[in-house]
Amino acid sequence: MHKKSLKIEFVEYDSTNGLDSDLLDLINQAENNLKNAYAPYSNFKVSSVCKMANGKTIFGTNQENGAYPSGLCAERVAVFSAKSQFPDQNIEKIVITTEQTAEHPVSPCGACRQVLIEYELAQKQPIELILKSGNSKIWKFKSIKDILPFAFDGATILKKS
Ligand code: THU
Repeated sequence: MHKKSLKIEFVEYDSTNGLDSDLLDLINQAENNLKNAYAPYSNFKVSSVCKMANGKTIFGTNQENGAYPSGLCAERVAVFSAKSQFPDQNIEKIVITTEQTAEHPVSPCGACRQVLIEYELAQKQPIELILKSGNSKIWKFKSIKDILPFAFDGATILKKS
């Protein structure tokens, strides 16, 4: 029997002071896009932006639906759109912001984590994750693996035994 443990590291910024200007600009753009969220049911607006290797920025906001499960989270809207437009480009960063201030930055739901890890594993390069919720502190993770340890890797299905 072996007792094992995992350690996750991430960076916390008390405010936007100290962030590099490119990242601050990306966060500001995501926040400006919160107005495009369609969240009449939850009234919880989320906005996300993917920064691609070719420098393009692709936005997504949560899109809800009266038939609740038909809606989609902001980060999946952004990621699916990014990979639809630029299938051969790596996703370098993803920023997720919310209108509402939360005690801790809101982090992606399980389904969004699984979608993000799919592309991170496929591109063999980590996707940096930046979270900010209203006036919250800012969290920065180096990789999606840090928020989804022991992830299911779709490539397992493709491997023949
Ligand atoms: N939501 C997101 O867009 N991203 C998340 O990471 C968490 C939740 C959305 C889904 C729904 O429209 C609203 O927030 C409330 O759950």
